[in-house]
Amino acid sequence: MKELELKRKIKPTVLKLGGSIITRKEKPLTPNKGVIKRLAKEISQARAEKLIVVHGGGSFGHPIAKEYGIAEGFKDKSQLIGFSKTSQAMTMLNKIVVEALLNEGIPAIAIRPSSFIVTKHGRIENVDWSIVAKLLELGLVPVLYGDAVIDSAKGFTILSGDQLVAELAIELDAERIIIGVDVDGLYTADPKVDDSAKLIRKLSLKQLKELKDEIGRSKLVDVTGGMLGKVNELMRAVMHGIPVLIVNGLKPNKIYKALRNERVVGTLITR
Ligand SMILES: Nc1ncnc2c1ncn2[C@@H]1O[C@H](COP(=O)(O)OP(=O)(O)OP(=O)(O)O)[C@@H](O)[C@H]1O
Ligand SMILES: [Mg+2]
Repeated sequence: MKELELKRKIKPTVLKLGGSIITRKEKPLTPNKGVIKRLAKEISQARAEKLIVVHGGGSFGHPIAKEYGIAEGFKDKSQLIGFSKTSQAMTMLNKIVVEALLNEGIPAIAIRPSSFIVTKHGRIENVDWSIVAKLLELGLVPVLYGDAVIDSAKGFTILSGDQLVAELAIELDAERIIIGVDVDGLYTADPKVDDSAKLIRKLSLKQLKELKDEIGRSKLVDVTGGMLGKVNELMRAVMHGIPVLIVNGLKPNKIYKALRNERVVGTLITR
């Protein structure tokens, strides 16, 4: 079957498990094991078909990447060990996530972004997604993540899980995107700093563009731009007609309900 036909047929769901839920962001290299286990159960119980999981870096990826300035690109050799350490930390986190999914009987398969994705000035270009498409077609669940990758213009950089989510969704013509974070959805301001921040339950692309300027950056270390970076990336997928639902993955059953297409508190962004 031709690659294009294959893509059209699959219509996958892209699920992002934010580093803010699967790790303890304030503690370096600390997975949120209980949460990961529960999420794996929810994903299994939801019996979602044609699923791609992308996870973030949280306290595995971001602190090391920041320390060595990996996102800014190659400047000198002292960064190389940082590039390797970032990559290794993400591999470790990926292993924990995949293991948890396997334990719940989900045929998860780890895919290392840095092994087949190159960016240019931080943006993904010319990627062959056919392996991911074929894994999906077989019924496997590819698990990717934000990673330290080679960049054709600046040597290396950090590819955010959020950019990966949008790109995968667009390229594989996804049915929908579900984003799990540690807050209930998109607010009028960062709910962790601003008590008057209000949850936005539903918004269109046009409303999102207007709101963008008001949205703050995440207060914890996120080398890929916090909530503002996330929204910027997701907007591209919404423009392609792919709806995005942001829910709180720290609260039980939100991801389950989202996967089941049941009503759930969160933010729905549509074109
Ligand atoms: N307007 C906003 N609405 C909701 N959250 C916001 C807003 N502005 C900033 N934030 C912050 O963004 C955070 C989520 O982004 P963050 O990058 O920390 O998580 P993540 O993407 O799940 O982690 P990772 O990047 O490791 O995958 C929330 O914890 C919240 O404090
Ligand atoms: Mg983030």
